[in-house]
Amino acid sequence: MTETRIAFTLNGADVTLPEGTRPTTTLLDWLRGDAGLPGTKEGCAEGDCGACTVVLEDGAERAPINACLAVLGQLHGRGIRTVEGLGADHPLPALLAEADGTQCGFCTPGIVMAAWAHTRAGGDGHAALAGNLCRCTGYRPIMEAVERMADDGATAAPFAARAAAFAAPGQAFFAPTGLAEALALRAAHPRAWLLAGGTDLGLRFSEHREHPAEVIFLGNVVELRGAEAGPRGLRIGAAEPYSSLLALCEGDFAPLAGYFARLGSRQIRALGTLGGNLGTASPIGDALPVLLALGAVVETSARRLPVGDFLLGYRRNALAADEIIVAVDIPRPPPGALLAAEKLSRRHDQDISAVSLVAVIERAGETITAARLALGGMGPTAARAPAAEAALAGKPFTRDVLRAAAEKLAEDFRPMDDWRGSAAWRMRAARGLLERLWLRHAHPELAAEPFAVPA
Ligand SMILES: Cc1cc2nc3c(=O)[nH]c(=O)nc-3n(C[C@H](O)[C@H](O)[C@H](O)COP(=O)(O)OP(=O)(O)OC[C@H]3O[C@@H](n4cnc5c(N)ncnc54)[C@H](O)[C@@H]3O)c2cc1C
Ligand code: FES
Ligand code: FES
Repeated sequence: MTETRIAFTLNGADVTLPEGTRPTTTLLDWLRGDAGLPGTKEGCAEGDCGACTVVLEDGAERAPINACLAVLGQLHGRGIRTVEGLGADHPLPALLAEADGTQCGFCTPGIVMAAWAHTRAGGDGHAALAGNLCRCTGYRPIMEAVERMADDGATAAPFAARAAAFAAPGQAFFAPTGLAEALALRAAHPRAWLLAGGTDLGLRFSEHREHPAEVIFLGNVVELRGAEAGPRGLRIGAAEPYSSLLALCEGDFAPLAGYFARLGSRQIRALGTLGGNLGTASPIGDALPVLLALGAVVETSARRLPVGDFLLGYRRNALAADEIIVAVDIPRPPPGALLAAEKLSRRHDQDISAVSLVAVIERAGETITAARLALGGMGPTAARAPAAEAALAGKPFTRDVLRAAAEKLAEDFRPMDDWRGSAAWRMRAARGLLERLWLRHAHPELAAEPFAVPA
């Protein structure tokens, strides 16, 4: 049965919103408005500052998300916890205060919620807070507090997707659970926005206050979910969040872990998807050079095509009006190949690339037998570098050879000038990244992570 009223669990209590609630209202606006819960703050309204962090609960799982990007319609059936829902006696806020990890307090609810999710997920504390900015305290006291925080053991009801369709004045929002239903809706509503995680489209709801007449939410479509590693490679559902892809970056794919850990923040990776990166087809979409270099195949509802044929130009892809991206198949690198992924951005964390390079280099002894190089930020779309690749084939894997290949990048790309970097800087940076492949291989101690793009 298709449900017609948006319902979710908020801080453990069932909430059903009145008929006619606009489904593209951001969770943040609703929390601070109708719900009367002003603990969750608005800093930037574009996913950058983390002041609005709340947690999606699913059984024992906790995923921090930006309430400024998530909209009510996509949260149907979910469990949401805000800072108010931790309870007045919860130890985390007190630990932060005792460590002098809070001053004006504006960032504090978001930091507490990111930390609460982190106490369950574990891993690197720096990564856990990479999506939260504080203008007052400096991060040392915050990190010291976070290191003392422990899991409180609380769990929530597990999430089960339920088909839904919500109507509001001037808006229809569909949340199908199966691909056939999603395609039927697509055929009936060809102008509808397709919404996955909303980490690109969310800015249009949140910052630009756009409210489209029709939206089809893909996040509950079972055929678009799931991520698995098999003998031939990874298969990632188009609507599966990046956090699942990152979890599979081990073994052959381990060299991608550091790269995907710098895609947005934990909050962004809990919602953002490969389908969204392909759908936006930005020249600096970070997943795209990975998919190009590894020869990934995009599976849509109608066909399978190499990712290089899918990306057509600046924010243009080959998707037909009646097509939906279903999954991406990412082959394993050939045995013994060098796989490397490099990203330069103005900030180390929570920032899309200015220039990126992903390389798959096959060798027989020290001779390069084949090279696949894919770069982002160097033209209207992420693309392979055929001249540089040809300059590597058959040559020894030496610094001079990589330098000579780097010169060939000028034949492959005409980079753009924008606020992330000038064309000249982009070309120099790309050459440096190519040469750095040799450094990473021969002298890993010299190839330190860059933390910022020079002005
Ligand atoms: C603070 C912040 C930091 C970010 N950092 C990075 C970063 O470091 N690197 C990076 O690459 N990106 C970054 N992004 C951008 C964004 O997270 C990615 O592009 C992400 O992949 C978008 O996925 P989504 O599911 O949220 O897409 P959505 O916003 O839901 O959709 C994006 C587009 O794709 C289309 N689409 C989505 N799924 C499908 C499908 N299955 N079939 C057909 N069309 C589809 C939509 O219609 C829409 O046009 C950042 C964004 C923010 C807000
Ligand atoms: S308000 Fe800044 S991330 Fe949401
Ligand atoms: S305490 Fe003021 S912004 Fe963090």
